[in-house]
Amino acid sequence: MILVARKQETLEVAAAALRARGGAAHVIAAHVGKMEDIRRLVTTLDERGLEVDILVNNAGISPPHVESLADTTEALWDKVMDVNLKGPFFLSGVIGKKMVARGRGSIINISTTSALMAQPEIGAYCVSKAGLNMVTRAFAREFGPHGVRVNAISCGVIKTAMGDHTLNDPQRYADMMKINPLKRAGLPEEVARAVLFFASDASSYSTGTIFQVDGGVLS
Ligand SMILES: NC(=O)c1ccc[n+]([C@@H]2O[C@H](COP(=O)([O-])OP(=O)(O)OC[C@H]3O[C@@H](n4cnc5c(N)ncnc54)[C@H](OP(=O)(O)O)[C@@H]3O)[C@@H](O)[C@H]2O)c1
Repeated sequence: MILVARKQETLEVAAAALRARGGAAHVIAAHVGKMEDIRRLVTTLDERGLEVDILVNNAGISPPHVESLADTTEALWDKVMDVNLKGPFFLSGVIGKKMVARGRGSIINISTTSALMAQPEIGAYCVSKAGLNMVTRAFAREFGPHGVRVNAISCGVIKTAMGDHTLNDPQRYADMMKINPLKRAGLPEEVARAVLFFASDASSYSTGTIFQVDGGVLS
């Protein structure tokens, strides 16, 4: 497994945990919202002779809430779009083309219910992930004939550092649970199981799918 994020030390901890379980783990620190980092990432993969069969575009940021969507600054907009949309788009392109050349591969984009359900206080986030859903569909059409599948997992609130923002706000959490038939937040492993499905041949006839792991929020 090739682990990519900005913080080398966090990556090393995750890699050590994987190796302790007998897995092979490579670490490459990169900011996926920066084109120079994406280019360096791809060069490093080539130099190390590493091929990517499954690309999971998981890195994402949720911005601080704004009072009004119209208050979104250009700096905030650019930051959110760079990480949540530009990074997955260019990574899918450059790594996806290598998959196409080998005639196989799976790209999995981690999206959100907020891509389909507008929340003005995090509007830039919603727009970025709505874009990611279309990146999913567009690459699915282009790469499908070449054996490369592209799917997205649309998460509801999940217990992670990002999810804590909602989980630690009682009013916001209560509001979210009103529209959640399962009446609880999801767990990272529940998203991971969906990732495994799209990474494996169990999903061999699925591409361009936006798959909900959201407790039924969009039902
Ligand atoms: N948690 C939720 O409730 C929820 C709901 C819907 C969708 N999602 C989506 O799920 C995905 C994972 O989120 P999470 O909840 O696990 O968030 P998280 O706890 O904040 O983790 C984000 C991860 O992305 C990495 N990352 C952030 N910015 C990056 C950058 N510029 N370049 C490379 N890596 C970067 C972080 O590592 P570094 O800090 O070391 O870079 C970290 O590993 C995101 O795409 C998010 O939008 C989450």
